Amino acid sequence: MPIANYNQRPIELTPSILAADFARLGEQVREAAAVGCTWLQADVMDGHFVPNLTFGPPVLKLLRPHFTGYLDVHLMVSNPDRLLEDYAAAGANGLTVHWETCPHLHRTVQHIRELGCRPGVALNPATPVSVLEDILEDLDLVLIMSVNPGFGGQSFIERSLSKLQAVRALVDQRGLEMIIQVDGGVKSSNARAIVAAGATNLVVGSAFYSPKLTPAQAWEEFAAALT
Ligand code: DX5
Repeated sequence: MPIANYNQRPIELTPSILAADFARLGEQVREAAAVGCTWLQADVMDGHFVPNLTFGPPVLKLLRPHFTGYLDVHLMVSNPDRLLEDYAAAGANGLTVHWETCPHLHRTVQHIRELGCRPGVALNPATPVSVLEDILEDLDLVLIMSVNPGFGGQSFIERSLSKLQAVRALVDQRGLEMIIQVDGGVKSSNARAIVAAGATNLVVGSAFYSPKLTPAQAWEEFAAALT
């Protein structure tokens, strides 16, 4: 369920399982659902587009029965077209590709829809929002990376707020329904500014799956910050 409403827009808190305890991933996914999360993000990394390596379709397939909500797969991989069918078959509800990895982005987005998934495009910190101008109408989600992709626990890049404002302005100007997602360094301390800048979906890794807080306490902290 949404963690808050802002300007009549529901705000979703999306835990990133990158920060979860991989030795008990099913349990951690169930914990997220139990506190009210209806979105969950799987950070797929190939050790090529980004330095880290995470999980393939078989892991997602095993996780799927543990989470009935929206499984949002963020493909931080080179040449994602080769993987779309496998992640869709594993149970992804949404597939987000990086603009930086898709020379034929319009075709990739069509392919994601043909697979029955909702398409998203992610922009790295140095990639301007203007690259979305001729693909925006075909998307369900825009992801603004507020860290350099590859690892959790990094600091939020402040300039991401103006990028969020730019996406919000473009979406509103065209009267589009769009999930505006932000990922990286999101904390309860900056969540309100991020939502005020136009985000409607907050990906949270280390501030949700944290040694200092239970998922329930993390949910409460973000809910309080967004009230
Ligand atoms: C970066 C990852 C992380 C992760 C969130 O490649 O995508 O941003 O999801 O991690 P935190 O919330 O710890 O920055």
